[in-house]
Order: sequence, then C-alpha cells, then structure tokens
Amino acid sequence: MAVFKATFLGLVVVTLVSATLSGAHLEDFNFGSGGSHGLLPQFYQSSCPQVNDIVISVLQRAIEMDPRVAASLLRLHFHDCFALGCDASVLLDNSTTIQSEKGASTNVNSLRGFEAIDDIKTKLEEACPLTVSCADIVALAARESIVLSGGPDWVLPLGRRDSKTASVNSSESNIPAPKPDLSALIAAFERQGLDETDLVALSGGHTIGFAKCSFVRQTRKLVCPRRGGDNTPAPLDFVSPTRFDNTYFRLIVGGHGLLPSDQVLLTGNGRQAAELVKTYATNESLFFQQFAESMVKMGNINPLTGLKGQVRKNCRHVN
Ligand code: HEM
Ligand SMILES: *[C@@H]1O[C@H](CO)[C@@H](O)[C@H](O)[C@H]1NC(C)=O
Ligand SMILES: *[C@@H]1O[C@H](CO)[C@@H](O)[C@H](O)[C@H]1NC(C)=O
Ligand SMILES: *[C@@H]1O[C@H](CO)[C@@H](O)[C@H](O)[C@H]1NC(C)=O
Repeated sequence: MAVFKATFLGLVVVTLVSATLSGAHLEDFNFGSGGSHGLLPQFYQSSCPQVNDIVISVLQRAIEMDPRVAASLLRLHFHDCFALGCDASVLLDNSTTIQSEKGASTNVNSLRGFEAIDDIKTKLEEACPLTVSCADIVALAARESIVLSGGPDWVLPLGRRDSKTASVNSSESNIPAPKPDLSALIAAFERQGLDETDLVALSGGHTIGFAKCSFVRQTRKLVCPRRGGDNTPAPLDFVSPTRFDNTYFRLIVGGHGLLPSDQVLLTGNGRQAAELVKTYATNESLFFQQFAESMVKMGNINPLTGLKGQVRKNCRHVN
C-alpha cells in the first residue's frame, strides 16, 4: 500500500525502509521529537496500539462509498491547523459557549468529512476510551487519506490535545482566499511558520478533490454549467481527481490550474514558486517527499500538549 517513504529525516531512511519490508507500523519507531513541539510518533504505542488500524478500516469503507471523502479530510486538517493551531477547534458545533468555525465564510457549505471523523471517534472510544484526541484523529485521517489515494506515507508526530474554544475570526483571517495574489498566499503561510516551498508543495493537495464552480478561473469555466450552477463541484485535477499524484502541477504548467490561487503559483511574482511548480511537474517523487515534509510542518502548528486542552469524548462538543 505504501508506495513511498519520506526521506526527509535523512538519518532514519534505513530504518524506514526496513520497517516497510518487515510490514511493521511506522508508529512503532522512535524518531525523536526534534522540531515536533513535543509531539511523538509513538504517543499511542501503549495506550491505543490499534489506533491507525481503526483509522484505516473506517476510511477504507468511507472512501469506497464516497471517494471525495479523502480530499475533504485532507482539507479539514489544513483548515483546523490554520485556525488556532491543530487542535480540532474546527470540529466544534455551535453551543451556548461556542461559535462554530463551521459557520466561518472559509468553511460554510464547503468543509466536509465531519461524519467520517465521528465514525473514527466512535470506534476509538469503544477500543480506547478518552485516549485519542480529535486533533490527532484529523491528522491521522489526512495522512491515511493520502496513502489510500496513492500518495506518500510518512512518520506522523502525535499527542495533540483538543481545544475548548473555536474562533470564526481566526479561520476567516488566517485561511487565504483563492485569489490570484501570490504575495497574500505567501504571507498567509508565513504567519503559520510555513515558507514558499511549503505553500507550493501543500497546494499540491489540490491533486484530489473538488471546488465549487463559483471559485473557478474564467479560462477553466468550460468545466462548469454555462449559467447558474455556482455550487456545482468541478474537479481540481480533472485528469485524475481521486488519485494523489503530480498531475496538479502538470495542469498548472499547461495553463489548466482550476483556482486563481493555483495558476498564480506559476504566473505570480514569487521568488521560487514558479520553479517549484515546474520541478514538481516533472519529478513526482520530489513532490511526494516535500509534501510529506510540509504536512509534518503544518501538523505541528501550535498544538496543545501536556495538560493544556482536553481529549474530547465527542469531537463536536467540549467535555
Ligand atoms: C494555498 C492556499 C489555498 C487556497 C486558496 C485553497 C482554496 C480552496 C478552495 C476555494 C477549495 C474549494 C472549496 C469549495 O469549493 O467548497 C479548496 C478545496 C480543497 N483544498 Fe484547498 N486551498 C489552499 C490550500 C490547501 C492546502 C494547504 C490543502 C491541503 C494540504 C488543501 C486541500 C484542499 C482539498 C483536498 C480540497 C478539495 C476538498 C473536497 O473535495 O472536499 N488546500 N481549496
Ligand atoms: C452558529 O450560530 C451563529 C449565530 O449564533 C450562526 O450565524 C451560524 O451560522 C451558526 N453556525 C452553524 C454552523 O450552524
Ligand atoms: C482576528 O484574528 C487576527 C489574526 O489571528 C487577529 O490579528 C485579530 O486581532 C483578531 N480580531 C479579533 C477581533 O479578535
Ligand atoms: C527527482 O527527485 C529525487 C528526490 O526525490 C532525486 O533523487 C532525483 O534525482 C530527481 N530526478 C530527476 C530526474 O531530477
């Protein structure tokens, strides 16, 4: 299943390869916590060793019923991490104390995958009650969605805890709009400690999934109904919409990026973005390697650890 192992932690490459050959779980290895904000890949090794198997089995069924779920779960992790950090704030429903991020302009009628997260949480509460946080479930679901879609696998630091708050403002002011403004995209990623390379590599997440026709570039509007149909979903990568590959970059090079914020990576005035788009378009393994590295970086944004936050029993409500 794992077609690629990230080699960004140069010194653990040999361990990764032998782990793959022996069929062992990546979480069984201690890669240290350097730069991971106190998160550890083996965090659930003794408290819930079956965590990843449960995530995979729920996702296999969910993706079989609706292949788009994989893309929706990847985006959910991005929208969680950019608003208050990777703390599952995005999963909280409206209540007397919470104004849900689901109502933010960045998410409303757009963010998906909440039911799959609920299904995973239900199974995990049966197997290991009050142990696996919703924030880690979102991160694990994003990684396995990519693996199940044919993309890279990587060692994922764990141990995030769940927030007791949400912030519509944080979502709306930190998640960039799909506009052709490369400096705004770079600035939004820099605010999260991510650089131009992370921006281009992570934008490659648009190799799976769909966008509403209202967001689509004029020159790609032929994929949309001639009038009305603003809510019609158009594939971000019309060649292979459910396959995680480097087609996204090849389409941009050919002038076929779907969103204005996709095409501008090539045409905008970036220091490196255009070069990276062209490189990833010709070297898929380099894209996979950088995507894995950038996903770990994104997953490390401002996590709650130690005694901060809580492990929710239900991902939609604070305990
Ligand atoms: C660079 C800035 C980004 C912008 C402006 C942006 C914008 C968008 C927009 C407008 C949509 C369509 C939403 C809809 O029609 O309801 C979308 C979908 C999507 N985005 Fe992004 N995005 C960005 C970065 C990312 C990142 C970093 C990831 C993950 C690594 C990601 C993953 C996805 C996925 C997988 C979908 C499809 C979701 C689905 O089909 O349910 N995006 N994005
Ligand atoms: C939550 O409540 C606010 C008003 O208090 C409303 O504007 C918003 O649409 C609600 N969000 C959801 C996701 O139902
Ligand atoms: C909204 O979020 C932005 C960015 O995180 C922050 O600078 C600003 O102070 C916040 N505004 C309010 C009203 O909280
Ligand atoms: C593609 O990238 C890999 C690193 O993942 C590198 O080893 C390889 O030489 C590159 N291939 C080409 C043709 O540049």
